Parts: sequence; structure tokens; C-alpha cells
Amino acid sequence: MLTVSDLVVAYPNGRVAVDGVSLQVGAGETLGLVGESGSGKSTTARAIVGLAPVRSGAIAVDGVDVVGARGERARRLRQTVQLVFQNPLLSLNPRMTIGQTVREAVGCAPPSPGLVAAAEAERLLGLVGLPPGVSDRYPHQFSGGQLQRVALARALAVRPQLLILDEVTAALDVSIQATVLNLIRRLQRELGLALLYISHDLSVVRYMASSVAVMRAGAIVESGPTQALYDAPEHPYTQALLAAIPTLDRAVAS
Ligand SMILES: Nc1ncnc2c1ncn2[C@@H]1O[C@H](COP(=O)(O)OP(=O)(O)OP(=O)(O)O)[C@@H](O)[C@H]1O
Ligand SMILES: [Mg+2]
Repeated sequence: MLTVSDLVVAYPNGRVAVDGVSLQVGAGETLGLVGESGSGKSTTARAIVGLAPVRSGAIAVDGVDVVGARGERARRLRQTVQLVFQNPLLSLNPRMTIGQTVREAVGCAPPSPGLVAAAEAERLLGLVGLPPGVSDRYPHQFSGGQLQRVALARALAVRPQLLILDEVTAALDVSIQATVLNLIRRLQRELGLALLYISHDLSVVRYMASSVAVMRAGAIVESGPTQALYDAPEHPYTQALLAAIPTLDRAVAS
């Protein structure tokens, strides 16, 4: 589904934020990407969707090279891969109702006979667990957890195969985090989505991901199946991260 090979991303100021990252996400799988602040997780995510300056390396989505994609290739990429960020308020237009926002995204999906945008938007808002009748409300009228549901509905509107979720629950209360994580897992199951799940929170990643890659200073220092990596981390940096695990486990288990 997604293959990243020797990716190097350098910002215009010369800062090399990603320095030789390789990773793979298979169809329907979840890869967790963890690492300290500034290690290059978001930059990797942005490079995959064409929002960060790739200096070298290859990114293939469904076998198609997407580095520097323009025109039709870029449009296809936007339909296949969707990125959801930590702060939905920054990515939702405050002057559009959420119904308008999701309808607009439905309009960017591949054409589908008989699909009515308004009905599809209602269906998507229901799919992410929002109550009926919320379409006419504006972003500021929602809680953080509800807004993340709106952001998910909008991302799903184009019927993507891969979702990149960048710290999507980091700003939420622990109990709300758990419900959003469970929603994401249910959506993944029902829709057969592949996920690249980015978080600095290793307990969240353990809950979400079948395999994990650990980033530090622009590079992946260790990767492997989640269980094995958590049971027997090899790299000292992974060991240090695991020693500092927070307490979400109990909340999601309950
Ligand atoms: N637009 C930019 N221009 C220049 N440097 C940037 C830019 N965005 C990020 N960086 C730098 O690139 C490096 C990686 O940043 P990035 O945001 O990818 O890290 P991260 O792992 O997502 O961190 P966090 O956990 O805090 O979100 C950091 O040193 C950051 O300062
Ligand atoms: Mg980040």
C-alpha cells in the first residue's frame, strides 16, 4: 500500500528533518510511528502527501511513485491517502458548517453513480458517531473529540485506502482519547483501511498498531512487530521511551 524508501526531507532553511527513512504499510495494516518531539514524524507524514520538500528517496502508494506528483497523479494521491492532524480547528473552515465541509470533500471523491453528496455527508457523520442533525453547526460549536470525528468524516469522504493520523488524540482528555481510538479501530476494520499512526505516546501506539517504527533525529532506529518490540526493545532509545510509558492502557481497556 505504502512504501517509503530512503526518504530525505530538507526544509528550505537547510534543516534536514528526515534523513533516510524507509517504511512500509500493507493494505489494511497499521504501522505505528513513534519518537520524541522533533524526530521527524510529521515531516515524514507531510512528505507522503506532498506537503514537505523531498530531497531524495522514493514514496510509492499502491505501486505508483508520488514524489512531486502533479495533476491527475496528485488528484489520485489525494483520493488514496488522507492525513488527519492533531488540531482539527486549524484544518476546518470556521465559516462553513460541518455539513458543508463534508459535502465539499464528498465532491472530491471518485465519481460514484447515484451518490448524493448531502446524503453521503450525513452517512459519514453518522459513521463517525456524531448524532443526527449536527450538519448545520459550525466547528466552534463542537468539542475537541467531536471535531476529530468531523475531521475523520471529511478524510473518509474521498474513500481513501490509507489514513495517516498524526497525533489525532494528543490534545484530548484520556477518556475521550479512548473513545476516538476505538472509533478509529472500528472504522479501520469496517473499511479495510491501512493506517500510519503517529504518536509520541507508546501506550496508544501499542493499542493501535500491529507493527512499530521508532524515530529519532530524522531516522528510524528500530522497527518490528509491536508485541516483540515492546517485549524486547533492542535499541537503547526504544528502551528509554518504553521506560516512560504513560497510563492510557487502563482507560482503553475499561
Ligand atoms: N516548516 C519547517 N521549516 C523548517 N524546519 C521545520 C519545519 N517543520 C519542521 N521543522 C523541523 O524539522 C524537524 C522535525 O519536525 P517534525 O515536526 O517532523 O517532528 P515531529 O516528530 O513531528 O515532532 P512532534 O512530536 O513535536 O510533532 C524539527 O527539528 C523541526 O523543527
Ligand atoms: Mg509532529
